Amino acid sequence: MYGFQYYTPTKVLFGKQTELRTAEMIREFGGTKVLIHYGGGSVVRSGLLARVTKVLEDAGIAYITLGGAVPNPHLKLVYEGIELCKKEGVDFLLAVGGGSAIDSAKAIGYGVTNEGDVWDFYDYKRKAKACLPLGVILTIAATGSEMSDSSVITKEEGLVKRGYSSDYCRPKFAIMNPELTMTLPNYQTACGCTDIMMHTMERYFTNGGNMEITDSLAEGLLRTVKANALILAKDPKNYDARAEVMWAGSLAHNGLTGCGNDGGDWMTHKLEHELGGLYDVAHGAGLAAIWGSWARYVMKDCLPRFKRFALNVMDVKNEGTDEEIALAGIEAVEDFYRQIGMPTNLRELGVSATDAELAEMAYKCAVGVKGGMGSAKFLREEDMLAIYRAAR
Ligand code: NZQ
Ligand code: ZN
Repeated sequence: MYGFQYYTPTKVLFGKQTELRTAEMIREFGGTKVLIHYGGGSVVRSGLLARVTKVLEDAGIAYITLGGAVPNPHLKLVYEGIELCKKEGVDFLLAVGGGSAIDSAKAIGYGVTNEGDVWDFYDYKRKAKACLPLGVILTIAATGSEMSDSSVITKEEGLVKRGYSSDYCRPKFAIMNPELTMTLPNYQTACGCTDIMMHTMERYFTNGGNMEITDSLAEGLLRTVKANALILAKDPKNYDARAEVMWAGSLAHNGLTGCGNDGGDWMTHKLEHELGGLYDVAHGAGLAAIWGSWARYVMKDCLPRFKRFALNVMDVKNEGTDEEIALAGIEAVEDFYRQIGMPTNLRELGVSATDAELAEMAYKCAVGVKGGMGSAKFLREEDMLAIYRAAR
């Protein structure tokens, strides 16, 4: 078991109509001029943006808006947001949407409070020294960005998708009303559930220290999301299932399920980020398409964890060799993905990659992890390429 630092400063308001308390939250954290940042328009169509701006107007809080954060959010809009905030004297950011709007807002926050090019942080050239305070109204349970220290941005030039993490960008508050997620298409709900499970699985499949309380929390979280993802595939308006998944999303990525271990493996995410950068696929679907190939490739190097996962999460029978049990667990995950409409390989993801494209992704992925990474199994460029090939 390893020592750890656990820091979750985000104030969470969870439940119906909590978005009506947005002005109170912004005041509590000192905001006087707000940039409301959102995505491609779902919050306009649902009426959420209008409800939130009315709350701010009634409270006399000045705001401006900037929409347009796309899935796999782009650096260009981040630059635009930084200029806008500087020009308008914005001192608080409010992201209304999913991981893309939140991450884009976090990047804007870094850009406003630090000198120089904000991409330097994502390019591992420098470390940020501050970020504008940020609040979130969450509309999709997925990334956990509403409580996490990370932000993932895509630079259009070269299609490079990179994450940067620091405690400065952890949101001051997160407003989570499960009803706001009921307008999601089923595909996006399933992508979100996949991402939530993956954030826990990345921390679970390690060779570096484990803690029973963390394992039990992780397994409970995984079983809960699995069960409720299946409910939502048939009954998308089920409030309780939405709520279970939404809270799981935050707990899956606020550090809780990494306490006592080495921080996790994270290679499925790194491999997916290259897919997201190059083919602009939905993050959760990209993870589902790559995970089975990653799992088969690394399984023997992390066998006790794969066996435990199969028995405790995927309800595999305790019969046969450890390897057979572990493999049955991987197959059960793929069955689950199929049931919720997620892909299990690149073809099903809609990506037909050439050899050269796979090699490019493996190269960029290796560069992104400074040569190699992974706790279940340490992977280098040739391993990454083998996994991409197996996933094709
Ligand atoms: O853009 P709009 O119009 O809002 O539509 C979005 C988007 O098309 C739509 N949507 C969201 N809420 C909705 C809704 N549609 C109807 N009703 C609602 N209530 O769903 C689509 C996906 O939204 P997006 O914000 O892109 O999804 P997600 O939350 O999955 O974020 C994905 C991004 O976050 C990154 C991913 O790589 C990807 O770039 N990640 C961020 C992490 C973090 N900051 O901690 C960790 C993750 O591992 C991940 O890498
Ligand atoms: Zn993720």
